[in-house]
Amino acid sequence: MNLDAARLLLAAHGQSHLLSFYDRLEPDDQRSLLEQIGRIDFGLVDRLKALLPADRAAGGRAGDAPGTDRGGDGASAFSPVSATRPEPAERAAAERRGVAALRAGAVGALLVAGGQGTRLGFPGPKGCCPIGPVSGEPLFFFHARKLLARKRAFGRSVPLYVMTSAGNDGATRRFFEDRDYFGLDPEDVFFLVQGSCPALDPQGRMILEAPGRIFLSPDGHGGVLAALEASGAFADMRRRGVETLCYFQVDNPMVNVADPVFVGFHLETGAEWTMKACERNGPGEKMGMPVLQGGRVTFLEYTEQPLELRESLGPDGALRFRWGAPAIHAFSVPFLERAAGAGLPFHLAHKKVPFAGPGGVVETPSSPNAYKFEKFVFDALPLSRNVQCLAFDREEEYSPVKNATGDKSPAAAKADLSRKWARWLRAAGVEVPLDEAGFPLRPVEIDPAFADGPAALRDALSAASGGLPRPDPSAPLLLRAPSVGQQSGR
Ligand code: UTP
Repeated sequence: MNLDAARLLLAAHGQSHLLSFYDRLEPDDQRSLLEQIGRIDFGLVDRLKALLPADRAAGGRAGDAPGTDRGGDGASAFSPVSATRPEPAERAAAERRGVAALRAGAVGALLVAGGQGTRLGFPGPKGCCPIGPVSGEPLFFFHARKLLARKRAFGRSVPLYVMTSAGNDGATRRFFEDRDYFGLDPEDVFFLVQGSCPALDPQGRMILEAPGRIFLSPDGHGGVLAALEASGAFADMRRRGVETLCYFQVDNPMVNVADPVFVGFHLETGAEWTMKACERNGPGEKMGMPVLQGGRVTFLEYTEQPLELRESLGPDGALRFRWGAPAIHAFSVPFLERAAGAGLPFHLAHKKVPFAGPGGVVETPSSPNAYKFEKFVFDALPLSRNVQCLAFDREEEYSPVKNATGDKSPAAAKADLSRKWARWLRAAGVEVPLDEAGFPLRPVEIDPAFADGPAALRDALSAASGGLPRPDPSAPLLLRAPSVGQQSGR
């Protein structure tokens, strides 16, 4: 795009300020700013403008760029969902069905890793954040090694679709390459980049994060639907015969990726969307919730939950809305393809966005100055013909890394992983002394490709010739799988 065309375009959309510093920029920066302007969908920006609070108050609404507003839905609009805890026989049947699907190569995994991880503040993609209590291996390692375990157990790959965003795509791909894909076949790892969206100030103006660069942010995890379509991932799934896609977030090192029981339950119930649900740990926990609205399962993100609903107690004094859902889903692929064809609404988040101030100096505001726009994947729920919730045990499968310190921090996740592996080791007959909080007195870690559950651990230990090495019982214990290709199927 040339300068004259950019001037006309920006003037037509009330965004002329984006060229305020143009004359002072180096030629390369001028070129890249014009290119960036050329890539912006101004029709979308105008529709997003109509979602801003002032416009809404004046009755404005985005033409065909849908927005969402749950503010009008009070707690009385919703009732609790129930999540299924299968009986042992039902569970065993689900597991058989899931294993058959895995053996047939009909299962894929979708890792959403495009978020900015602002709360954690890790310098790099969140998936590179060290989390192994003994090895210091990163979040990506634990996700990938579970898929390696599935391949070794069932003889077929579970292809991994990794969604990144413009800001972390290059670094994520390089990290996988540098780490040899953690033992996965590179052919089985498919990267897709989600869309970006400008932020707007309360007057609807885009923001220069530097004199020659417009601020863009990823378009939310709901951007995954369009990204699956645009990247050719659906075509790849069709080619491989993948019919069920297991969705999970980068921040949870405990997630049981492509869990055969989960996959089998999803298939047995004929669901198009199954989500794992766990008991909320209290009224203040920041976790999204599946709820019923008009008899259908819908979803309330933490930021959109009416307070009275979040805190509502039943006659027994327990939380009335007891189930939370930390974004562990199984999707039928035909459903996802259908949903990708329908647009999702945008949600607004009022955030602090650094900006180039009057002299071109970048300033960091002390209070929110702009609205970011994000799509949420669960807004596709109404498009699903059959939604199921499967209860899971959070001690085994959920400890996300959201914050730098305290609750839901790397330290908290490492502690939860350590407790879980200590339970597995003790169940397999390995002596691991614990403190009164169940925390192992010696650091322990199990590579998921060595064992991805207590039963697998028992088998792996008895198969290991000579059993466990017997070092100093207070020394760290790290159980790692042999190198790729050395271990046969279970
Ligand atoms: P979060 O809502 O925790 O956001 O994302 P975040 O960006 O990781 O962290 P904060 O809020 O900035 O601190 C939940 C999951 O959705 C993915 C994240 O990577 C994470 O796995 N996500 C989020 C995307 O893939 N794209 C997005 O645009 C947003």
